[in-house]
Amino acid sequence: MADKHKTLGEYIIENQSSFQYSSGELSRLINSIRLAAKVVNHEIRKAGLVDITGAAGEVNVQGEAQQKLDVYANDKFKETLINREIVCGIASEEEDDFVVVEGANGTNENKYVLMMDPLDGSSNIDVNVSVGTIFSIYRRVTPVGTPVTIEDFLQPGNRQVAAGYVAYGTSTMMVFTTGNGVNGFTLNPAIGTFYLSHPNMKINETGKIYSVSEGYFAHFEKGMQEFLKYCKEEEGTRPWTARYIGSLVADFHRNLLKGGIYVYPRSRTAPNGKLRLLYECNPMAFIAEQAGGKASDGFTRILDIQPTELHQRVPFYVGSKQMVEKAEEYMEQYKEHT
Ligand code: AHG
Ligand code: MN
Ligand code: MN
Ligand code: MN
Repeated sequence: MADKHKTLGEYIIENQSSFQYSSGELSRLINSIRLAAKVVNHEIRKAGLVDITGAAGEVNVQGEAQQKLDVYANDKFKETLINREIVCGIASEEEDDFVVVEGANGTNENKYVLMMDPLDGSSNIDVNVSVGTIFSIYRRVTPVGTPVTIEDFLQPGNRQVAAGYVAYGTSTMMVFTTGNGVNGFTLNPAIGTFYLSHPNMKINETGKIYSVSEGYFAHFEKGMQEFLKYCKEEEGTRPWTARYIGSLVADFHRNLLKGGIYVYPRSRTAPNGKLRLLYECNPMAFIAEQAGGKASDGFTRILDIQPTELHQRVPFYVGSKQMVEKAEEYMEQYKEHT
């Protein structure tokens, strides 16, 4: 059967044996994410028609005003996974602390924890611009059958067993990896089925797109400023094209398909950048590497960073390998400058 006729459900069944540990539990978990993604997609597509845009009135642990859809997406993903008793713990951008998932009879034999950014780019909802969901899956490190602890969540990204995102764009796509390449599935909204539209996704070694919120130029470190000057110089394939949506999922997805670099750097006002290591950077870094790209904090491989707290932020450089390496060269060259 040609790939484009293959559904996500069929893909999961056929590839289960290639998933790490392959007990069937991970397949069921990815199936549950697929279901929650469809429910959230259905709600997002009503934005502007029913009262689901705008602020929810609460501030999350990140200090951000929660949008109604942030809360909705968080609740839907949590509820879907808890109802199916398919994870032993969940951590989310929208939750102060991690959630211990109790089994129906008080015990929980599941091996996986899930971390998520339930709605990425939420400032874009009200203006009809693409948003997304990001997820990251690990095997717990504490004994099965006991309540999860912080240790189960503070694992370096190189221990992820699966990661992915859902892009709610002109079409809805689910892109994920289980450590065996990256595959993209597009939702046919008429029948609610995801099809394998983008098998074995690879990112070009280099590209022409750079994605940075450049308005903060004056607050960036010298190395980043010099890299931005390089992006704009007239030489070879440069100047490059600036593209910045403000939804990591959408910016990352475009660069994955076309080749490019996305950077959320350290700045004077955001000394560790803005993006969250566990919910945003690790899953995107895993996907980037699996597609042949690269992800770093400007100096170090993202996936090798040992997290110290749940909501930790890190500077993030991700995309085409040669472009990330070029940015790292500038960071190294000017690292003594403040
Ligand atoms: P979230 O909506 O999940 O809080 O994430 C927002 C993030 C990310 O999607 C985006 O790339 C970045 O914030 C944009 O930040 P700026 O508005 O500072 O550019
Ligand atoms: Mn947020
Ligand atoms: Mn986000
Ligand atoms: Mn979010």
